[in-house]
Amino acid sequence: MINFKQEIAKQIAKVIELNEKELETYLEIPKDTKNGDYAFPCFRLAKELKKAPPQIANEIKEKIEIDTTKIEKVEVLGGYLNFFVNKQVLTKEVLTEIAKNEEYGKSQKGKGKTILVEYSSPNIAKPFHIGHLRTTVIGAALYNVYKYLGYHTIGMNHLGDYGTQFGKLIEGYKRWGNEYNLEENPIEELMKIYVRINELCKEDESVLEACRENFRLLEQKDAYCIELWEKFKAISLKEFQKIYDMLGIKFDAIIGESFYIDKMNKIYELLEEAQVLKESEGAQIVDLEDKGLGVCMIKKSDGSSIYVTRDLAAIRYRAQTYHFDKTLYIVAYEQALHFKQLFEVAQYLDIDEKCKQGLRHVQYGMVHLSTGKMSTREGNVIKVEDLLAEAMNRVEEIIKEKNPEMQDLEVEAKKIGIGAVVFNNLANTIIKDQVFDWNNVLNFQGETGPYIQYTYVRTKSVLEKAGYLPKIEEVKEEKLLDTYSQNVIKLIYSFEDILTQVTMKEEPSILARYLIDLAKAFSVFYNENKIITEDKELQDARVYLTYSVGKVLKIGVNLLGIEMPHKM
Ligand code: ARG
Repeated sequence: MINFKQEIAKQIAKVIELNEKELETYLEIPKDTKNGDYAFPCFRLAKELKKAPPQIANEIKEKIEIDTTKIEKVEVLGGYLNFFVNKQVLTKEVLTEIAKNEEYGKSQKGKGKTILVEYSSPNIAKPFHIGHLRTTVIGAALYNVYKYLGYHTIGMNHLGDYGTQFGKLIEGYKRWGNEYNLEENPIEELMKIYVRINELCKEDESVLEACRENFRLLEQKDAYCIELWEKFKAISLKEFQKIYDMLGIKFDAIIGESFYIDKMNKIYELLEEAQVLKESEGAQIVDLEDKGLGVCMIKKSDGSSIYVTRDLAAIRYRAQTYHFDKTLYIVAYEQALHFKQLFEVAQYLDIDEKCKQGLRHVQYGMVHLSTGKMSTREGNVIKVEDLLAEAMNRVEEIIKEKNPEMQDLEVEAKKIGIGAVVFNNLANTIIKDQVFDWNNVLNFQGETGPYIQYTYVRTKSVLEKAGYLPKIEEVKEEKLLDTYSQNVIKLIYSFEDILTQVTMKEEPSILARYLIDLAKAFSVFYNENKIITEDKELQDARVYLTYSVGKVLKIGVNLLGIEMPHKM
């Protein structure tokens, strides 16, 4: 499609001596469509050119040569130059692209670049909580968008399957294993064992010592300890898999922290070589005080490895295996310090510079229930599996009321219920904390997943009512020049740009917001414009636009990891 922004920048570049690419970044999209489609603010130039912004704007306007097949007109307003895109050309561009491209918005922008997205990463023998749901959903969305833009993408689940807590769990299991039914509710039962052994440790120092001994045995690959640990791992993974199946999530690699155990010596070695490893109270540390990041412990005084060191080994392994340009860690903001330290210490590894520069912590906020905080320690954990099941049930009830005859109720309720929860996780800037409230999440009229799905279903029924899809050659752009149609068309035009922004800002909510805007713009178009009308040409054009909206909505929600229902 024509890149109007680039076109404008090219013309301005001929008039004032600034580089085209830079000028492109100056261009804004005015809030009020009265002020055109693109605005060029002259304020930043004022200093350099020693002239008032309106004067600069006028001078550019005088000199600029615009191609009216692309830009209809240019106006000066204060310190701005406002550009009006040729509506007819824009409309034709958009509809033609929709017609010829099943995968509208897809590109090869990222070709040759490798992005590793690390997401989900729950801990075995612990509940998969609502925070893990967030990283899973956010990570999957980013993964999908990167892939759609042609990047080579690797989805990685960095399973928390290692740490001293397993020494405790093994001890508890040795003592009381047969009292618990691990078949039925494995994770809850393991949690009970864990809580119980922790209590005992507090009372009895010798029990704590026994736990430590178990962990040492595990590190030395003692057969029985390994067997128990493998068992905990297998039953946990089976539980997690249920959730991944419900959400339709897949990974390219699931590699637990334990995988890196035999790769840690090399890390100690490298840090020693770099002369940054220091001893402190028997432990090995890297001092990051001068960077304001405190002290990063690399090895405990008893010699056991820690979280950050396994992460360092993982970076080295991934750099060597995948040669990534970027690794995104989708992890709650609570771990901000951990990642700052990690990325700092990673600078001492023997990996490509581009890998060192490409480490990103994509932080997301906490989820609170509208009815109070969710906490693991107090035991009132919300099981994600139950949450998703509840979403489906609630949707079933809502639909039964609205549309009692609906077929495939269960299948569609699943898409809507789960889609609602997924969308809710992506609807706002991800770093913000979030309140979970069923009434908002499932509101078919609010800014929700179901609202977008509902709008999509509406486009489908319009097409059904029309009974045909016109050929693109028969669509007359001049029938779509009204404001309501144009607002929709402009949004469709910007889809690819939105996807690029998602990757640049690592912010899937940009796509979620966009889909809400598109759905809203369509609703206005639909309410203001009669689609099925006497005027056949008008009808053809409007039907085609309706079809286009449906297509973009579907591609967009699929990228967010949500399925579209056929009916609602
Ligand atoms: N397993 C950790 C948790 O549940 C998250 C792991 C994050 N990823 C990492 N590379 N440290 O809190």
